[in-house]
Amino acid sequence: MKGISVGLLGMGTVGCGVVKIVENHQDKLIHQIGCPVSVKKALVKDLHKERSVSLQPDLLTLHSEEVLDDPEIDVVIEVMGGVEDTRHYILRALQNKKHVVTANKDLMAVYGSELLAAAAENKCDLFYEASVAGGIPILRSLVDGLASDRITKMMGIVNGTTNFILTKMDNEGSPYLEVLKEAQQLGFAEADPTADVDGLDAARKMAILSTLGFSMNIELDDVHVKGISAISSEDLQYSKKLGYTMKLIGIAHREKEKVEVSVQPTLLPKEHPLANVQNEFNAVYVYGEAVGETMFYGPGAGSLPTATAIVSDLVGVMKNKRLGVNGKSWVTPQFQKKLKEKEE
Ligand code: NDP
Ligand code: HSE
Repeated sequence: MKGISVGLLGMGTVGCGVVKIVENHQDKLIHQIGCPVSVKKALVKDLHKERSVSLQPDLLTLHSEEVLDDPEIDVVIEVMGGVEDTRHYILRALQNKKHVVTANKDLMAVYGSELLAAAAENKCDLFYEASVAGGIPILRSLVDGLASDRITKMMGIVNGTTNFILTKMDNEGSPYLEVLKEAQQLGFAEADPTADVDGLDAARKMAILSTLGFSMNIELDDVHVKGISAISSEDLQYSKKLGYTMKLIGIAHREKEKVEVSVQPTLLPKEHPLANVQNEFNAVYVYGEAVGETMFYGPGAGSLPTATAIVSDLVGVMKNKRLGVNGKSWVTPQFQKKLKEKEE
């Protein structure tokens, strides 16, 4: 039986998690997709860097074409981050008829429509579950689980780094910069953590969530953003005395065709469910007209939780392949209309 061959773009915190899951959960993967999965190549910047997995010979490469143009690679997993290089790499992978899984919210929040169009044109899947809320399967829940409902509100904690920082500052009075450093060492923060602390990472995730949840194109520029860098331990201690906890909250609200999306530090009464989401954990509240209130909770960052979402996307790709429906999932109605116009 021919196995599935995967090429990685990047093998850092998340990429190493993908390798571990592919190795350690092989029996589950075979059960799900009917054949073994292996990682054939991984693009990195530094061949000699220490990594948290043992490396098979010739796994690492400095040349993107060894991943993107190898006809034996079926699926490309992009876990290197950044926008412009990754955009070109993903377009090339799709043109080469490779399915793509990415964890990159910076990319999907800006170029999502273009990349999804390229995927559909090439009859390939492009999945990005890990781009929002790490290990919580929130995108699949919006697209599939709540497919029959009309979602009007989403609200939550969608950045693990800032929640980790606020939790430690609040519970232990730790200084901001010290906790930020700890979040970086634990692999939660972005390569440039400014995007985390300024709220931009959460804004990108809210743009992706509202595009899928409301089935409309929500641009990053439409999201009003304020981060946590001006908040001090003293602010948090004072709020605590008054019975409140500070969280970086994303809110997306829809009323008919009018949508408002924002990210800002928010004081919550300490008995509020989101006030008790600690450390790198995330939670997303979704309100649908029929279902009412739902809440999704879990680890929002970190190697294995994020890699779980990625490898589950890989399983999704292979299940679609069996059904012959690659390139048709996660396409919003508005986007389907655009595609149809293009075809005519
Ligand atoms: P890391 O910085 O740990 O890993 C990045 C990897 O990409 C490294 O292996 C690096 O190579 C490689 N890389 C970066 N730039 C280039 C380049 N120009 N050419 C070749 N290789 C390159 O990042 P993470 O694993 O933390 O994150 C990866 C992606 O996943 C990002 O998009 C991030 O936003 C997203 N994400 C991260 C989460 C997390 O908890 N960390 C959670 C959800 C999403 P080398 O190792 O040689 O330096
Ligand atoms: N830096 C991100 C966070 C990683 O802290 O939430 C997960 O997307």
